[in-house]
Amino acid sequence: MKKLINISLSEIKLNDLTKLKSETLIIGSYETKKISDITNIFDKKSKGVLKKLISREELSGSLGNILYLPNLEGTASEKVYFVGCGKKDKEINEQEFLSFSQKISDAALQSKAKNVHIFIPSISVKNRSEEWNYKILARTLESNCYKYFFKGKKNQPKNNLTKVTLLKENEKKGLGAINKAMKVGHITGVGMNTSRDLANTPANICTPSYLASTAKKLSKSFPVIKTKVLGEKEMKKIGMDCLLSVGNGSAQESKFIIMEYYGAAKTKKPNIIVGKGITFDTGGISIKPSPAMDEMKYDMTGSASVMGTMRAIAEIKPKSNIIAVIAAAENMPSSTATKPGDVVKTLSGQTVEVLNTDAEGRLVLCDALTYVERFNPASVIDIATLTGACVVALGHEATGLLSNDQKLADNILNSGYASCDRAWQLPLWDCYQDALNSKYADIANIGGRAGTITAACFLSRFTKKYNWAHLDIAGTAYGGKVGKKSSGRPVPLLTEYLLSQK
Ligand code: BES
Ligand code: MN
Ligand code: ZN
Repeated sequence: MKKLINISLSEIKLNDLTKLKSETLIIGSYETKKISDITNIFDKKSKGVLKKLISREELSGSLGNILYLPNLEGTASEKVYFVGCGKKDKEINEQEFLSFSQKISDAALQSKAKNVHIFIPSISVKNRSEEWNYKILARTLESNCYKYFFKGKKNQPKNNLTKVTLLKENEKKGLGAINKAMKVGHITGVGMNTSRDLANTPANICTPSYLASTAKKLSKSFPVIKTKVLGEKEMKKIGMDCLLSVGNGSAQESKFIIMEYYGAAKTKKPNIIVGKGITFDTGGISIKPSPAMDEMKYDMTGSASVMGTMRAIAEIKPKSNIIAVIAAAENMPSSTATKPGDVVKTLSGQTVEVLNTDAEGRLVLCDALTYVERFNPASVIDIATLTGACVVALGHEATGLLSNDQKLADNILNSGYASCDRAWQLPLWDCYQDALNSKYADIANIGGRAGTITAACFLSRFTKKYNWAHLDIAGTAYGGKVGKKSSGRPVPLLTEYLLSQK
């Protein structure tokens, strides 16, 4: 996925804003008793137009208030939008800043301009820095330009925006840190769009082979990433029978994708992300009910987020080593499909009794988690739309987090907070493990009442050799306020976490 817009940052004097020749100029102004400094400058040039609008209560400066003024007299830009920034010294919360960024991004698109300039004065957000503001704004601007495709040309929304210039009032301290944060935010937005594009693609196109060729394409555009793909034959050879058992009923070949990025000496332990890539989950022989089954095309969102994050890493190029793996298969019922009661062998040597073929995510992940042992990881995070129970527990707001290492869990919680892509921890206590006892194998693939926890318990049997965390994104991958669309989560959380690991 290419960048949809270019974003840059430059400085400007307040008095020069009216002289700026832009297609669309978006101006943030405070809510003040009299007229704010910025509004006053435009008012003078327009011979009192803005004062009139203030007296009619059309322009207020209250947070998020938007007023569109084409051809404002005395202003060189074609179209001007005034966006209220609230009271100057009043701290706002992050939610308010997120919707403020969304409004600006919407205005930029709706103006139909190619080039947009945005000037916002400083806004203080509780517990956040000015850098953070620019990171979020840039991310929102890019991710807001994402278009849903698979519609005829006529039905596609027009989107002209290609260039955004963020303007800041001249200050002595310079733009270095803000520029850096803005770039990370922007690229995170590109990563989110990459992930959304893959996740939204219907399952008749987005197959395991499609995921594999997308990964190969990515490393062609970004040679810092080396991609290797294992097919069924190669997986069979090394003993990934459990992963393979999930695709047994499908005409689509299962794939195992490995993407490696080395930004530091090869001896440095890598941080690893592992994505569930079930390109469609019918449930298999334990077939799912029909209503909303179409949503199971999103069952590869874990792998999509891994790909989107690698897209971001490839461009940011941190000085650390990062490896991504994707376990891709299609879960279908057929005469060759795995049946309830079948026993399969995992790469680790442990056997699994498949009591429910709809608990397939853990069956592909367990072999991937054993495979990554060979990299001697500093940390491993798997990302999966793993359980419906997680949607019941946390809704569409928080990603479920379970881990065998509290320090890693804390780092992930902090990254979620920093990126506004939050996770919430659930317990992974030993007392939950018994639910997975099996009469016929070392472990059963289902059991117990706490679905999200017992799923993580299953995975924990394969992650004893390293620090590991599991992210259940069944609720946050799509749905809720976002609607039946991919959200791009948890690309912000993963990018934030990986960049924080030195
Ligand atoms: N992909 C589903 C989980 C899911 C459900 C994701 C709803 C998004 C929305 C997973 O493979 C699954 O079917 N899990 C079962 C596990 C059960 C059989 C123990 C579930 O949650 O019902
Ligand atoms: Mn399933
Ligand atoms: Zn699934």
